[in-house]
Amino acid sequence: MLNVQDIRKDFPILNTKTSNGKNLIYFDNGATTFKPKCVIDKMKYCYEEMTANAHRGDYDLSHNVDVAFEESRETIAKFINAPKDCVVFAANDSTALNIVAYGLQEAFIEEGDEILLNEGEHASNLLPWFRVADTKKAIIKFIPLDEDGKITPQNLKSVITNKTKVISFAHVGNVLGHLIDAKEIIDIAHQYGAYVVLDGAQSVPHIKIDVKELDVDFLTFSAHKMCGPTGLGILYGKYELLEKMPPLLLGGGMNTRFYKDGQLYLKKPPFRFESGTQPIEAVIAFKEAIDYIEKIGMDNIHRYELKLREYALEKMKEVEDLIIYNKNANTGIITLNIKKVFAQDLSTHLNSYGIATRSGQHCAKLLNDIIGTPSTVRVSFYFYNTFEEIDVLIQALKKGRDFLDVYFGWS
Ligand code: ALA
Repeated sequence: MLNVQDIRKDFPILNTKTSNGKNLIYFDNGATTFKPKCVIDKMKYCYEEMTANAHRGDYDLSHNVDVAFEESRETIAKFINAPKDCVVFAANDSTALNIVAYGLQEAFIEEGDEILLNEGEHASNLLPWFRVADTKKAIIKFIPLDEDGKITPQNLKSVITNKTKVISFAHVGNVLGHLIDAKEIIDIAHQYGAYVVLDGAQSVPHIKIDVKELDVDFLTFSAHKMCGPTGLGILYGKYELLEKMPPLLLGGGMNTRFYKDGQLYLKKPPFRFESGTQPIEAVIAFKEAIDYIEKIGMDNIHRYELKLREYALEKMKEVEDLIIYNKNANTGIITLNIKKVFAQDLSTHLNSYGIATRSGQHCAKLLNDIIGTPSTVRVSFYFYNTFEEIDVLIQALKKGRDFLDVYFGWS
């Protein structure tokens, strides 16, 4: 079991009060996570003592930045068991997915090829592929979801063909929170010669991921959802694929030479994908975040979040008219509504107890039809949450019906 009370001391924001004087209870970790002091201190150190551009200067200070910048890449690579040159820095998870989509579009996808997606995905993992399909006259197909709202190897087999070129899916969906058995999906995809893009935004912060063991072609994730700074996404790609892919963004730092007639010579991956000045402080401070969560232990984090989940679900049985959309999920995401209460109203009510949740469509706008509601409240845990915080949530949910109005569109 984690020593959560000690862990909480590392997060300065957990000592703050909400504007109505309540203890802050943060259950919006699917959107972003709090930062421990070591990450904040590293950012501060970068601004106060180690500011220079990366890979551009010929002086000691810039050399120190280069070393720290590449050390961070090394740490990230080890964290997912990847070679260092396969780790690309991007602005966020969405940018990383756009880089992959564009690269595959230009290097591999042809007219009539199939791209397999599913209706549970976040916009970031749908819209780039819609554009690829439009550009290349490729065909988007949706893998049917099972009764829990997740993709399964069986359902994949019902739609995959020899024309399937790409399968892109969230390892853990940001609304329903199911952890997908990615290995089985990847093995099936490879039997058909398809590439797999795994959106790890909601999985990499919570469970141990080994890209070699998974044999996944691409993995994307965000630093800010795992105690790191905003402004930094990570793209892992197999080197032999990255080498064939043209970059989405062109500019300084990604080329070796260009000429007046437009000839352009690219650097090798990962640098060819890192045009312009990178979020240097974020990259350097992200190493601290990874070291921090690795010290806690990824298995401990996952186990603890499941305990929080189990406890919350048990307590939620006491709440009248509560609808839970993902009872069978296996992560720290619980998505719910109270009958006849508009989701945003419920979130506002929870806010009055100091509880932060996300409500609405959560950017997964195709999922509404599957779960049969236009909006939900999402409670998402991280390792610094406590059972006592869940008790406050339950107390607040019990009052949820008394709170406000009946939502007109409800059936
Ligand atoms: N994708 C993030 C979420 O699910 C922002 O909240």
